Amino acid sequence: MPHTILGDNLPAPLREMLGDEFEVLPWETTTNAPAAERERITGLVAYGHPRVDGELLDRLPALKVISNHGVGVDHVVLADAASRGIPVGNTPGCLDASTADMTIALLLATARNVVRGDRFARGPEFTVFDPSILIGREVTGARLGIVGMGRIGRQVAKRAAAFDMEIVYHNRNRDEDAERELGVRYVSFDELLERSEYVVLNCPLTPETTGLIGAAELARMRPDAVLVNTARGAVVDTAALTDALRENRIAGAGLDVTEPEPLPRDHPLLSLENVVVAPHLGSASDRTRRRMMEMTVENLRAGLAGDPLPWAVST
Ligand code: DGY
Repeated sequence: MPHTILGDNLPAPLREMLGDEFEVLPWETTTNAPAAERERITGLVAYGHPRVDGELLDRLPALKVISNHGVGVDHVVLADAASRGIPVGNTPGCLDASTADMTIALLLATARNVVRGDRFARGPEFTVFDPSILIGREVTGARLGIVGMGRIGRQVAKRAAAFDMEIVYHNRNRDEDAERELGVRYVSFDELLERSEYVVLNCPLTPETTGLIGAAELARMRPDAVLVNTARGAVVDTAALTDALRENRIAGAGLDVTEPEPLPRDHPLLSLENVVVAPHLGSASDRTRRRMMEMTVENLRAGLAGDPLPWAVST
């Protein structure tokens, strides 16, 4: 008898890993299907959307495990899972390097006009090399402020050191090991905002970090600063960021995530030249995604067997 699980548009290799042992029902089963169908579901694979909360869990009375294909579990109401005795697994660690790579990629792309340059180089105006166009901002030797010195923040710091950047960070707790190992310096949040030429967001989305960068914080940033967000869109107030970029109150933004995600196609942020947007690609590299899928399946199998999850989120 295969296990019946709920999975929303699962990547094909993940579906292959699950094989015939698993019957995967679509998300709509939770709302459109007869109760008997829902009541067969023992596992749930999530990866961002939709939200997994008590209301959904109450429609899945046989559920034994929630396995998240990704590290961020802000879309799972952990207290609701805990109060129903359902363990939640995620995929920490394996995506730190690829997300840090993406942070640096967006920082460079924004600072050095890579996307605008690409558009220009393909267009009719590019007829001759012109040394006065698309002059970007220097990255080498600049001051980088990392918000969130967790696993991903540390990987960003390692990469930034190769660009001779002066690295400061702000975190809920000071991390003296990181300071020793990586040569980073702890500063207050205000100092980080006021003095960094590049501000990168590598913190999880929590009630404390929701709206962390709003109008007041953007106003503290340098007019030549670039903001990079590879965390979660809701860490930044989208309307305030759009205003700051439109009025050139900061120099630019590189966004792998937005709130909402995706933005409405006619959102004013998408028409600005000083922003580079990516469709949530932080962990989207071949090796990383493969490992994420393996961890997702391992967590799922463990939960279905009633064993402790190898990568359990503490609830
Ligand atoms: C994560 O792992 O949280 C990434 O954002 C992919 O969802």
